Amino acid sequence: MTIENVRIIELPKYLDARGNLSFAEQNNHIPFEIRRTYWIYDVPGGEDRGGHAFCENQEVVIALSGAFDVVVDDGENKKTFTLNRSYYGLYIPKGLWRTMENFSTNSFALEFGSVDYSADDYIRDYDEFLKLKKDGKI
Ligand code: TYD
Repeated sequence: MTIENVRIIELPKYLDARGNLSFAEQNNHIPFEIRRTYWIYDVPGGEDRGGHAFCENQEVVIALSGAFDVVVDDGENKKTFTLNRSYYGLYIPKGLWRTMENFSTNSFALEFGSVDYSADDYIRDYDEFLKLKKDGKI
């Protein structure tokens, strides 16, 4: 996978005078079966999250509140996506290094994952990531 496979998904939104509603369905707006939901909140100013790649896990990341940047890296190119609307999801396929940065105060990141949690699915060493990528193993 390369950063060309990362994309913004526009989720449905129903706007009316009482407020707004959005939703996401697996195998529809979310392009996989959702195995897991996790969220990140109360990030202290200046902290980064998620400096790693997944061997198998695909994700959709939504800024339900506030704003943050997701930097994706395929070993050759990097791209930064700023998420700041609750009706946009960022689809990140497996095998890409990704970091979350520049969290605004009170930001809230919701993430859907395609596989059960496994520490073995993580690549946390950037040089190892580059090697696996170069060898075509991820
Ligand atoms: P991690 O994915 O490393 O956080 P981030 O990518 O945002 O920096 O997750 C932090 C810890 O939380 C991890 O070491 C184990 C635990 N965890 C689970 O037990 N289950 C999960 O589904 C997730 C996402 C994390």
